[in-house]
Amino acid sequence: MKFCLDTANIDEIRKGAELGILDGVTTNPSLIAKEGKDFKEVITEIGKLVHGPISAEVVSLKKEEMVREGKGYAEWGEHVVVKLPITRDGVAACKILSDQGIKVNMTLCFSPSQALLVAKAGAYFVSPFVGRLDDISQDGIALIKDIVLIYRNYGFKTQILAASLRHPMHVVECAKAGAHVGTMPFKVLDALYNHALTDKGLEGFLSDWDKAGKALAQKNKELAPVG
Ligand code: E4P
Repeated sequence: MKFCLDTANIDEIRKGAELGILDGVTTNPSLIAKEGKDFKEVITEIGKLVHGPISAEVVSLKKEEMVREGKGYAEWGEHVVVKLPITRDGVAACKILSDQGIKVNMTLCFSPSQALLVAKAGAYFVSPFVGRLDDISQDGIALIKDIVLIYRNYGFKTQILAASLRHPMHVVECAKAGAHVGTMPFKVLDALYNHALTDKGLEGFLSDWDKAGKALAQKNKELAPVG
């Protein structure tokens, strides 16, 4: 499973990259707006830190404009993936860009039928939003399982990029279901490392090592030749 950070914050991306297990970054207009910086500048800066897919979302709603905007983004760096919403115009624009070899991430996916459409349009990624479905008492993980089944049935190449992951169990459940990628905020990525028994076990190992080291030093002192 590949891991992406779902943020446009350069400090978080730098910290994530230093962990050595980061595969890419996803952004959306809300995340970019939160940083208060120029869009192109942010995406270019991310490209210097992460050498994997970086999703940049268009804000146009009409097919022709989406294609124009998307082609422009694709020139910002070799890893830029154009993110489009799943609308009629978005799916049509996905087909046009994908046919031209531009990678597209189809976002705001909330149903298996939408996932089926974007796979037919040649999307590189589909982004089902797990957390936002859970928020309205629908089963986000069930959507991931449905898409995995449908894509396997037909051998679609579109990768399932599980999005809107809010806690570590979302990541684990998506991995169990077979999502290719999980995108998450930095705090969720960081929480994947934690286990109380790891901390306790390490404390015990180091304390035993320290005691044994002291005992050994004492023994060597006793055995040392006098004078
Ligand atoms: C995905 O590409 C979106 O940016 C993101 O995962 C949305 O997450 P949220 O529902 O926590 O805002």
